[in-house]
Amino acid sequence: MESRNVMSASAQPFEGRASAATSRRSFIRLVGGGAVLAATGSLAGCSGELPETAIQPWRSAERETDTRRFMLAHALLAPNPHNLQPWIADLREAGRIHLNCDSERVLPETDPFGRQILIGCGAFIELALIAAAQRGVSVKVELFPGGAPADQALPKGSRIATLVLGEPGSAAADPLFAQIVRRHTRKSAYANDRALPESLLRNWGETATRFGLRTGAATGAAAMDPIRKITREAYEIEATTARTWLESARVMRIGPGAIATNPDGISLNSPMVRALHTVGLFDPMEVPAKGSSSLQRVMDRWVPFETASGFLWLASPDNARPTQVTSGRAYVRAHLLATAAGADMHPLSQALQEFPEMRGPRAAIHRTLGLGAGGETLQMLARVGFATEPTGPSPRRRLDALVRT
Ligand SMILES: Cc1cc2nc3c(=O)[nH]c(=O)nc-3n(C[C@H](O)[C@H](O)[C@H](O)COP(=O)(O)O)c2cc1C
Repeated sequence: MESRNVMSASAQPFEGRASAATSRRSFIRLVGGGAVLAATGSLAGCSGELPETAIQPWRSAERETDTRRFMLAHALLAPNPHNLQPWIADLREAGRIHLNCDSERVLPETDPFGRQILIGCGAFIELALIAAAQRGVSVKVELFPGGAPADQALPKGSRIATLVLGEPGSAAADPLFAQIVRRHTRKSAYANDRALPESLLRNWGETATRFGLRTGAATGAAAMDPIRKITREAYEIEATTARTWLESARVMRIGPGAIATNPDGISLNSPMVRALHTVGLFDPMEVPAKGSSSLQRVMDRWVPFETASGFLWLASPDNARPTQVTSGRAYVRAHLLATAAGADMHPLSQALQEFPEMRGPRAAIHRTLGLGAGGETLQMLARVGFATEPTGPSPRRRLDALVRT
């Protein structure tokens, strides 16, 4: 979608809206057609490359000499919803890392109970453990040492886990370590005609089982088309519900200056988006109305998200807080396995979300995947396959921004 893998599926269109003046709409049509060369010509010297400081954490993780900082420098590269990076690491107690959920980095509208935020924290924990093992250190994970947040409360400020470090030489290296800095959520089109390797499907299954979860891959048109329909409808609901749309709009970072200042959230950096934003033709705070041409353009951006070799799903027997964290641990391992196999993954989470307007798609996706009996919960749904264009890392905040000493 974006040239540098920077626009979330929950993210926004970057063209004019129905409410824009007619002259604006003509301009956009022109840009989309014959005048596009003129437009890009005037953007000479403007590139979609992310600012170096925003992607530096992907390059510097290996350099940390202190074991806990080495763990955290890798952990902060974890996949997480809207790239909010909802973590604070308290290092004041020797030999331990206390992981807290940053109260300012939650998504009350699209993730009202913080389920996805906890999945992101689970991914963070798993990467911390893999990094510790690389240094020969085992880690005991104490989940929610102060008690888990209530089922329907945001985990704002909660202590998610305490990681207790073992002695040097207590762990063997994890073969997935090398994939941590190579893993990226690729959001461009995927090939439709490439099968997933059997070994990858097997490894995903074993990983899910190890964490007490179930997984499966829907492949072939008969299995994938109903999922495509539900995920598309779910996205349209998120896009046309003002408060959920605006939640994404508020965390958009448009252009290198904004991305460098806030290397988190949804980064929009293509020259065209920046130009439209600069001249006032792209205002992320305008909510697309049902039936409008602006919504049509938003939905056009969804088309690449229907390309894939298949959909991977990950489900848990219950939806308890520790299970949500565990799902994040399993999910990131599944993604690392895909990276090792040269495959790509891209979560499409709208239909899984718990806000009331999403009730229909949420029930439909559970039904379609044969889940839901006895509290079984779909925790992650991702299209999987082989991206047709390479995209690089997404921004990260520096290690020191999340560490408390
Ligand atoms: C629980 C969870 C839900 C996510 N849902 C979506 C989604 O609906 N759409 C999307 O484009 N990316 C989704 N992502 C991927 C994040 O956008 C991505 O991890 C984040 O931007 C950081 O990028 P990276 O994974 O390339 O490091 C999700 C990730 C997690 C952990």
